[in-house]
Amino acid sequence: METVSKIKSFQEEITEGIPEYLPELLAYDSNVNHAPKRKDILNHQEKKLALKNALRYFNKKFHAALVKEFLNELKTYGRIYMYRFMPTHKIYARPIEEYPAKSKQAASIMLMIQNNLDHAVAQHPHELITYGGNGAVFQNWAQYRLTMKYLSEMTDEQTLVMYSGHPLGLFPSHTQAPRVVVTNGMMIPNYSKPNDWEKYNALGVTQYGQMTAGSYMYIGPQGIVHGTCITIMNAGRKFVKGRDGLKGKVFVTCGLGGMSGAQPKATVIAGGICVVAEINEKAIHTRHSQGWVDEVFTNLDELAKRLQTARTAQEAISLAYQGNIVDLWEYFVKNNIQVELGSDQSSLHNPYAGGYYPVGFTLEESNAMMAENPEQFKREIQSTLRRHAAAVNSLHSKGMYFFDYGNAFLLEASRAGADIINEDGTFKYPSYVQDILGPLCFDYGFGPFRWVCTSGKIEDLRASDKIAEEVLIELRKNAPSEIQQQLDDNIRWIQQAEKNNLVVGSKARILYADANGRMQISIAFNKAIAQGKISAPVVLGRDHHDVSGTDSPYRETSNIYDGSRFTADMAVQNFVGDAFRGATWVSLHNGGGVGWGEVINGGFGLLLDGTIESENRAKKMLFWDVNNGIARRSWARNKEAVFAIEQAMIDEPLLKVTLPNLVDDATFDTLNL
Ligand SMILES: NC(=O)c1ccc[n+]([C@@H]2O[C@H](COP(=O)([O-])OP(=O)(O)OC[C@H]3O[C@@H](n4cnc5c(N)ncnc54)[C@H](O)[C@@H]3O)[C@@H](O)[C@H]2O)c1
Repeated sequence: METVSKIKSFQEEITEGIPEYLPELLAYDSNVNHAPKRKDILNHQEKKLALKNALRYFNKKFHAALVKEFLNELKTYGRIYMYRFMPTHKIYARPIEEYPAKSKQAASIMLMIQNNLDHAVAQHPHELITYGGNGAVFQNWAQYRLTMKYLSEMTDEQTLVMYSGHPLGLFPSHTQAPRVVVTNGMMIPNYSKPNDWEKYNALGVTQYGQMTAGSYMYIGPQGIVHGTCITIMNAGRKFVKGRDGLKGKVFVTCGLGGMSGAQPKATVIAGGICVVAEINEKAIHTRHSQGWVDEVFTNLDELAKRLQTARTAQEAISLAYQGNIVDLWEYFVKNNIQVELGSDQSSLHNPYAGGYYPVGFTLEESNAMMAENPEQFKREIQSTLRRHAAAVNSLHSKGMYFFDYGNAFLLEASRAGADIINEDGTFKYPSYVQDILGPLCFDYGFGPFRWVCTSGKIEDLRASDKIAEEVLIELRKNAPSEIQQQLDDNIRWIQQAEKNNLVVGSKARILYADANGRMQISIAFNKAIAQGKISAPVVLGRDHHDVSGTDSPYRETSNIYDGSRFTADMAVQNFVGDAFRGATWVSLHNGGGVGWGEVINGGFGLLLDGTIESENRAKKMLFWDVNNGIARRSWARNKEAVFAIEQAMIDEPLLKVTLPNLVDDATFDTLNL
């Protein structure tokens, strides 16, 4: 708890916005995990433009002083973060009543923004990056200050418009409209190559919002632990032989970063053994000190010995290798070590700007090469990817089930010339959505449903856990057999959620539910708020990795086989439809997960405050938010989705969806195509 005077000075700093004086420039804090230096991509004229763009946030009288400082940032870090304007207040999800605001909805958005920038939550907090190496909330600290000021001033008759971190301004709207509309990285399609991000981000006119970074919906690693747990459990059920699930079975992967750090924890919850390579000592330290990874090794022989003991004793345990993933895979191949499941979660959505590290170099050598000799860096990355794929192929030939984990591994390995493509042009390995999450979850409407208790009280989170559990148990009683496993997994998850101790930052929770489950839980929460059983409003949301929110041909929509997976109508329709059905804020992003130009995704936040209006908004919006995607998946002939949308039409007579007529393959037998 902060003292009254601390809270007061926080509120004053928020309402001040961009100050009319130059705050003190603090020394660069090397104890904080900083973003890597970005590519020096701008020419002379463009550098001038970037500086001009940055200076337009400030009174002219400061331009002479700031221009040198900003040029120095551009030269040193490749971006202008405006470090001098970092606020003095502590940034974290405060109890909602501490935010200076005229609108409760706006206050809830401030809370969510601050959570995304909390030092305990964000990957590179000083560079306003929440996760994934480049998933930004804002491009610079002026944008943070200005946005928070607008939110503190706005009423429920205004909407704040956010262009890639830049607050364009407050516009008159109405009480049922979203309070904030966010777009991130929306580009003219031909300007959506990775270097375009480098250039236009350096110019200060766009940003990579990832999925939940620039949409203010990150809840720390809990979200990804849950999704990873569901994925690994189902991979075990479907693809690993034996009756004991993942007991004594080994999952090898890469990455202990923002999202990838969930893999060891999730594998242990699922009962298996995880071996994970991570090159960055700081990332290892973070996850080890949090208890998310059990033991750390720098020597592969010692790791292999420990793995053998764990396998024999069927321990649920996670072992980290501090080093390059390719060294780990090649060691396993050379020493004939059996692996049941394999994947990768290095940040290959961003292969040439620090997301993936080449074998044979230290982290420091790689970072220097990336900035000083990007061409050589690219060659090293590509040859590493070829070796990476070759080692995976070798273990696959001995029975390992390998899946792409939505980080663009297969895509980038194929672009690097790795042996990863079948004769018919398809990838040798499925994405986890094709084999697991698509048919088992998304096509039935099961996807992420998260909530944040804005009081910041553990008692509220506990009460909400109990309510969600009761709703799911009730739904399970008459559930069709097709979705019983999903309900069972999520009932077990919510029963163990507090024990798993996954809350970092705001008092948040996640589970997977279908449209009906999401609506029923929301209604029950709203009632509990009205009755005082939950002491303050609750923010609802989800990540973008969902049924309808994301068009991503190698990930969320990789199990769409009618050719439409390269279209993005679903995600755009979702964003628009959520906006006019009652979302408190909506967001639409280019990039996220698999990379700039590779995906369009959208999300929402919705504040439940115990009123009948918020219940109505939640029902209308959630129904659309899930059924949009089921209808599209059903049109793509996915049989699980046809089942789910037919059920939804029975439950809701106002829903009328165009269903596909299935075509017999024999129809084409006599055709000369
Ligand atoms: N499928 C999903 O549900 C899902 C969810 C979240 C993230 N992702 C994707 O997974 C990737 C990782 O996300 P993140 O937030 O953890 O990113 P991150 O950048 O925080 O973490 C990746 C980690 O991989 C390490 N690494 C990179 N190359 C390595 C190498 N060659 N050897 C050893 N370690 C190496 C990095 O040091 C870093 O710590 C992203 O591409 C993201 O989009 C997928």
